Amino acid sequence: MNTALWRLSAVSCSYPHKHCILWNQGVHTCECAAVRVCSSARVQRCYCVVVRYAVANNKGGAGKTTLVACLAEALAARGRRVLCVDVDPQANLTRRLGYSETDLHQLVTAAEVIKADELGCASVAITECRWPIDLAQRIDLLPARFDLENRIPEAGQLGAHMRLAKALSGVADAYDAVLLDCPPALGHLTQLALAASDGVLVPLRPEYDYVAGAARVRDFLAQHAATLGRPGLAIVGVVINEQDRRRGLHAWHLESVIDMFGPLVFNPVIPSRTQLAEAMDAAEPLRMRGFVVRELIDTFDLIANQLEAIANAPA
Ligand SMILES: Nc1ncnc2c1ncn2[C@@H]1O[C@H](COP(=O)(O)OP(=O)(O)OP(=O)(O)O)[C@@H](O)[C@H]1O
Ligand SMILES: [Mg+2]
Repeated sequence: MNTALWRLSAVSCSYPHKHCILWNQGVHTCECAAVRVCSSARVQRCYCVVVRYAVANNKGGAGKTTLVACLAEALAARGRRVLCVDVDPQANLTRRLGYSETDLHQLVTAAEVIKADELGCASVAITECRWPIDLAQRIDLLPARFDLENRIPEAGQLGAHMRLAKALSGVADAYDAVLLDCPPALGHLTQLALAASDGVLVPLRPEYDYVAGAARVRDFLAQHAATLGRPGLAIVGVVINEQDRRRGLHAWHLESVIDMFGPLVFNPVIPSRTQLAEAMDAAEPLRMRGFVVRELIDTFDLIANQLEAIANAPA
């Protein structure tokens, strides 16, 4: 990713940068007194407030929703405020953060927010993560329902791809990270998520169709990021999921993924573990599953480290 697009840097500002710089369509704007101090002090380094990642692969079942849920947990465990945005009509993320079908009928969801097409309107729909564990207080959710599908026919309307970015404008600034869970497609819903993102994370299983799905995301971004209003938007991390070390096929594809994506491939890989599928099935965070998932907790912590290292790297 062209980090210069979403990160400026600042010295000699005594204020916490998190609340003082807004990145707004390629222009950094100052919202409060803190920024004015920052600006007058000959700004050399200013940090972007929020980092927004779309999690995408043009192949179903790659582990997109799993990555969003577990990364949100890992980031919240280290005190970060995380907004999870469900941009998939399957609404798997919404369920995994604690909402049943019945609950969803009473919620305002991404479908209404995108339709509203108003600056900052996502705030009316944001709800809490319902995991019964303390760190859940630092995770919020913009939920989805199956009728998010109804936004797809609006794709032809002028500026429709910007509606989610518009809805999140200002709202996202209250968080350290925003994770947008995409459907397994490159159509309008994924484009809404990309237009609201600073970088893209791609999980994949080391098998042909998943690698091809990742390559299509890369090529799509190279061709269309500018049209989506995010010139330079690119994959910032490839996360290998469900690797089974006993399978030669996986070892072979892992090598080809490293050839294709080089340093973008995160280390460690997420192993294939029944306990992870069970936690996702039960809509529970890993930390509620005790000692047996320690390895998985550590894995997602390392992935969170790498993500934060990217976000904090010098431009
Ligand atoms: N490392 C893993 N080990 C075992 N099971 C896993 C692992 N990662 C994901 N799964 C399971 O694989 C299934 C697919 O994962 P997930 O729903 O995260 O994929 P997805 O990419 O979001 O799918 P979709 O494209 O349908 O949105 C889920 O049942 C999940 O629990
Ligand atoms: Mg999913």
